[in-house]
Amino acid sequence: MEMSLVDRWLCGAEVALRTLSGGVRAERPAPLPGASAPARADAAGPAGVAPGDGDAAASLSAEERRLSGALMRVNHVGEVCAQALYQAQALATADPALREQMSSAAREEIDHLAWTQARLAELGDRPSLLNPVWYGGAFLIGLAAGRLGDRVSLGFVVETERQVEHHLAGHLDRLPAADLASRAIVAQMQSDEAAHAVAAQAAGGIGLPAPVRAAMRLAAKVMTTTAHRI
Ligand SMILES: [Fe+2]
Ligand SMILES: [Fe+2]
Repeated sequence: MEMSLVDRWLCGAEVALRTLSGGVRAERPAPLPGASAPARADAAGPAGVAPGDGDAAASLSAEERRLSGALMRVNHVGEVCAQALYQAQALATADPALREQMSSAAREEIDHLAWTQARLAELGDRPSLLNPVWYGGAFLIGLAAGRLGDRVSLGFVVETERQVEHHLAGHLDRLPAADLASRAIVAQMQSDEAAHAVAAQAAGGIGLPAPVRAAMRLAAKVMTTTAHRI
């Protein structure tokens, strides 16, 4: 049965609360180290950490743990924003098929949210204190994209996912070589985001103008730079 607009907004509010309270559960288990994490080309294999060792946090130096924590906090914020964007875009479209595509992508992104949240805890670090702000900002951007029409909205998904994929590649260069667990999570997220971009393009997403893409990169830069610390 088709949900009413009020029902859909209430569901959206519930997702927001769950996202911000940390009450999310992954459907897929967190990726195992050694299964998909590419090794850093410039680093030798970490001593004392066997592939498949899921909790290598204890073997990291304090400095490495701090860096991993900061990078995984940024990635967690990215997934908070992904929830907000997909929820808003699902609410904005009048097409039930597109609404279902956006909602199911959001469900898949919950795995990323839960994995990064759990990894932050293993590293003894915390999520961003500004998550409600990130969520609210991303939600408004998602609504705006949705109001410009379905093909623009899908084009926005394509561009966002591509930028996230590129950003995650950068994190694979920066994450400590010994942090196999974080690297496995980021590598899996990177391949999932690439698939999301392909799906949105196949569904009819159009290319966005260069100034819009540049503005999106700038907004992401503000978010990632701030979330590294706060
Ligand atoms: Fe994601
Ligand atoms: Fe994604």
